[in-house]
Amino acid sequence: MSEGFAAVVLAAGQGTRMKSAAPKVLHPVCGVPMLAHVVSAAKQAGATRVVVVVGHGREAVEKDLASRFGADVRTVVQAEQKGTGHAALCALPALQDLQGAIVVLAGDTPLLPSAAIAGLVAARGDKKLAMLTSTLEDATGYGRVIRDPKGAAIGVREHKDASEPERAIREWNTGVYAIDLAFLRSALPTLKANNAQGELYLTDLVELASRAGGAATSSWSAEDVQGVNDRAQLAEVERVMRLRIAAAFGRNGVTIRDPHTAYIDATVTIEADATIEPNVHLRGATKIGPGARIDTGSVLTDVVVEARAVLRPYSVGERSHVGVNARVGPFSHLRPESELGEDVHVGNFVETKKTRIGKGSKANHLAYLGDGIVGEGVNVGAGTIFCNYDGYAKHTTVLEDGVFVGSDTQLVAPVKVGKNANIAAGTTVTMDVPADALAISRTKQVNRDGVAAKLRARMKAAKK
Ligand code: UD1
Ligand code: CA
Repeated sequence: MSEGFAAVVLAAGQGTRMKSAAPKVLHPVCGVPMLAHVVSAAKQAGATRVVVVVGHGREAVEKDLASRFGADVRTVVQAEQKGTGHAALCALPALQDLQGAIVVLAGDTPLLPSAAIAGLVAARGDKKLAMLTSTLEDATGYGRVIRDPKGAAIGVREHKDASEPERAIREWNTGVYAIDLAFLRSALPTLKANNAQGELYLTDLVELASRAGGAATSSWSAEDVQGVNDRAQLAEVERVMRLRIAAAFGRNGVTIRDPHTAYIDATVTIEADATIEPNVHLRGATKIGPGARIDTGSVLTDVVVEARAVLRPYSVGERSHVGVNARVGPFSHLRPESELGEDVHVGNFVETKKTRIGKGSKANHLAYLGDGIVGEGVNVGAGTIFCNYDGYAKHTTVLEDGVFVGSDTQLVAPVKVGKNANIAAGTTVTMDVPADALAISRTKQVNRDGVAAKLRARMKAAKK
């Protein structure tokens, strides 16, 4: 579409069957709200203005739209939900300055492809209206497409209003239309609520258009256009999208070991030659670099993984950065603002938070590194703890380049360990350590010859 068009997305309904405190259209599919998928498809199809009709849960819906699309999307309020025709009526003031045709969409069809929208716009030709339809063996619940003996569409009958013979019709209305604006402006105010639901039906426009020169139709696969009304349908739609996402990566050089258990949000990017093992969750703004490997059970939210880095099984990360060739896990926890440099190794049962770790540094076992600045070539021994919190405030631990931290060390922050210093195992570091110094804080060891044997004899005797 070159000339562009406006799209109106109906999203004011409550979505009662979701049985949710959240508005239906905000329920995510592969990490993105249903409504945002629809808005993106409309924009991709060539919509130059998107107007969303909001009502139920409108503050939350408006906030989400603003965060994703900014000024590209306007909203209009339908305070009371009196039907799809009434919703379209509420959108008219936001289209006042426009001419030509608009597209009407529903906010609950997250799989709708932009090609279906563009195709419908083209199919309208010079007719007042074009409707996107689909077919199902059993179209229960949907509005059925009524055609005359010559095959021209002459109306839509809602399931609740339909007779038995009409309910046997397999062709159904997907709720997507391209409509001439002048026709829309004149026809909407004439709608009447004389139907089973006592609502103004947008679908009544099809009959009006057919009398005013004919209504065009265009058809599309039922899988793509299915609407979500409850959480079983939500899960079905997500299953379809998940497999499509995995297949797209598969075509772009990414190994997705098992597409059925690759839980990858629509917002994630993965470069060629990366490998995603089964049961991995990649969420939000996560980016996986070329040749990286994310092993089974890992869950990453807004994490950037650079080239050739490896996340071993069951690593969990959030808002963090993993440098080129770094090694993480198994069982590592990268909490927000963990920044691992090139060749860094973070091993099992290591938790990091708001900590920068320089090139080649290692913390391979059992450690908590919170609020830290760790230089290059640092070795953090097993059981090391950055004591960053005094019950009131967080403090920083600094380990300069080349520092060696022996096992079972506590660093009581704020504290700084100078370049190439060595912390003896078991030390509680409470003062800054100068460069090249050895810090040791432990009571001197005493060996008492033969005492263990004597002790053993005494214990045995006492047991008898
Ligand atoms: C509608 C169509 C039906 C079609 C089906 C496809 C009508 C009368 N029926 O039925 O022919 O087969 O979609 O999924 O149009 N909405 C509002 N304000 C309202 C009512 C609805 O904004 O007052 C929005 C909803 O939020 C939703 C969309 O319009 O996004 C469709 O509403 P819904 O109640 O789901 O319509 P259906 O009964 O499914
Ligand atoms: Ca619906």
